[in-house]
Amino acid sequence: MNLELNFSVLESTPLFGMIAIRNDLFDVQDMLNRLHPPRADWYEEFYASALDKGMKSYEAEIAGCDNGVRVFGIDPNRKLEKYARAAATAAGLPPTNFKFIQAVAEALPLSDASVDAVVGTLVLCSVTDVDMTLKEVMRVLKPGGLYLFVEHVAAKDGTILRFLQGVLDPLQQTVADGCHLTRNTGKYISEAGFSIVDINMAFLSSALFINPHAYGIARK
Ligand SMILES: C[S@@+](CC[C@H](N)C(=O)[O-])C[C@H]1O[C@@H](n2cnc3c(N)ncnc32)[C@H](O)[C@@H]1O
Repeated sequence: MNLELNFSVLESTPLFGMIAIRNDLFDVQDMLNRLHPPRADWYEEFYASALDKGMKSYEAEIAGCDNGVRVFGIDPNRKLEKYARAAATAAGLPPTNFKFIQAVAEALPLSDASVDAVVGTLVLCSVTDVDMTLKEVMRVLKPGGLYLFVEHVAAKDGTILRFLQGVLDPLQQTVADGCHLTRNTGKYISEAGFSIVDINMAFLSSALFINPHAYGIARK
């Protein structure tokens, strides 16, 4: 599913600096004590609890605001619309800001350079043409736009898991609507022409032979 989001904050934030943990320049405890000296225990407890209760209506109002984010959910299976719509609503998106479009990722029904972000979850395993899909992702992204992805990919060559994936691949394609177990999707993303690609790998124990997973962010 591909989403169009207005990530105005992300656009002006250095992409890969955000999650770095600093461990050198400052003594964190010293800075904490100097800039925010300890308050009385009862006061910290009182203030934390007041914030928790007092901010509820404020947060609810913000969540209900139309913040301009518009999301397009794209999938060839039109039966997914109701689930996608429910997920969008549960995430706090006003219903009018979500549009489901029945289409394939190889021909996204969006204009050139029209979206701030594309989110793809477990979809490059299933498209017919991975290169064409990534070209479409590049086409619809604005300059500097982000592609956020999580994809299951082929296991390392020579491993038992990779052998099993080869054996099970035809069956998987049949029962899981064209899903391939043996695609080197991370390589496709790395070579798609993004200006920055940050790919990480994870093994999910619940996914058995549908592993490992490549996830990350790329910038147009
Ligand atoms: C493993 S499911 C993942 C569904 C969903 N994105 C998620 O993360 O739960 C793969 C999805 O890819 C969709 N799909 C198959 N071929 C496609 C294509 N050519 N373009 C876009 N989506 C496709 C399927 O309909 C299915 O919804």
